[in-house]
Amino acid sequence: MRGVRAALFLALLGVAAGLGESQDPNVALAPPSVAHRKLFQGRGQPPVPDDVVIPPANCTRPTQFSFMVSLRNDAGEHTCGGALINEGGNSPESRWVVTTAHCVDELAKPGALLLPDVDISGRRRDQAIERIPTEQTFLHPKWKSDRTRGNDIALLKLSNTSCYKFPLNIAEKNFTVPGNESVSFVAFGREGADAGFADQQQAGMFNIIPRKTCKQDYVQEGTKLKKSMICSRGNVNVAVCAGDEGSPIFWSPPKTTPEGRDPFAKRLVGIASFTDVDDCQSPDGTAFFTSISSFNKWIKKTIKKNS
Ligand SMILES: *[C@@H]1O[C@H](CO)[C@@H](O)[C@H](O)[C@H]1NC(C)=O
Ligand SMILES: *[C@@H]1O[C@H](CO)[C@@H](O)[C@H](O)[C@H]1NC(C)=O
Ligand SMILES: *[C@@H]1O[C@H](CO)[C@@H](O)[C@H](O)[C@H]1NC(C)=O
Ligand SMILES: *[C@@H]1O[C@H](CO)[C@@H](O)[C@H](O)[C@H]1NC(C)=O
Repeated sequence: MRGVRAALFLALLGVAAGLGESQDPNVALAPPSVAHRKLFQGRGQPPVPDDVVIPPANCTRPTQFSFMVSLRNDAGEHTCGGALINEGGNSPESRWVVTTAHCVDELAKPGALLLPDVDISGRRRDQAIERIPTEQTFLHPKWKSDRTRGNDIALLKLSNTSCYKFPLNIAEKNFTVPGNESVSFVAFGREGADAGFADQQQAGMFNIIPRKTCKQDYVQEGTKLKKSMICSRGNVNVAVCAGDEGSPIFWSPPKTTPEGRDPFAKRLVGIASFTDVDDCQSPDGTAFFTSISSFNKWIKKTIKKNS
């Protein structure tokens, strides 16, 4: 079984890398299954039915998750996710996005664009609150155009600051998700292995799997769990599908302050890098995220040097 999975996994790397709205329709994919995520209104809140019309979000009234961004190609199509990050201090100004390197490296993903346009997300994929071109891209110096080899991270410097005032703080070097708390994931990826990209901003929860358990029980033959990767499994059918790459997992403190939830207390924990099954919704799938805390120093240094 493990041998079979390993072979599928290798095939997937090619397939997943090539997926995009306008790309090869001949790639064989598993049949569609039920949507695995729903529009997220907050923990414990019911999802919004598809036929309910919500006024579009905008710079004055963004969504709770407008730090999630969508990378766009020249045709304006969604290719990958990313996260708008805080430049340091509690500055509400941000013009920096973190995403996975493979999302902006065409050697790793056909159709990837080094300088994508960036949509600051609204509730729907086609109702961004803002679109800003990328001015400069910084690939991690140790990126090898292969996500299984790690260092799958890039920084995008936007050509202007975003109007969204709650960029995510990046996880500190020593940050770990407390206790057994899970992390939230927001994305516009596919709702099923061969379904289209989600129209609505989607979210779900992921559980972080301790490295030792992951290596023993979850990692497929041929996958090497690098120090800078987070091993994780989705809660109830939540998975990483094509188009989710680069999208953020983040931790929010469970307790609210007397003033309400501190919008700066969230931590960007990881960005979706790859998954090790061909059907992204398979219950056997393990998702690998690039650990932001491992790259905290590089992110800070790069921003400082280039601001
Ligand atoms: C932003 O959205 C809110 C809520 O839908 C709306 O009341 C407001 O007029 C919008 N503002 C702008 C500038 O479009
Ligand atoms: C740059 O961003 C600021 C703040 O969001 C905005 O007021 C300004 O119009 C933007 N400039 C351009 C050229 O888009
Ligand atoms: C992480 O390090 C900082 C100082 O660099 C310290 O203030 C903080 O308490 C540490 N956090 C954890 C979870 O160890
Ligand atoms: C996490 O959960 C596992 C099993 O559900 C339990 O054995 C362990 O003690 C928990 N750890 C913490 C820190 O809560």
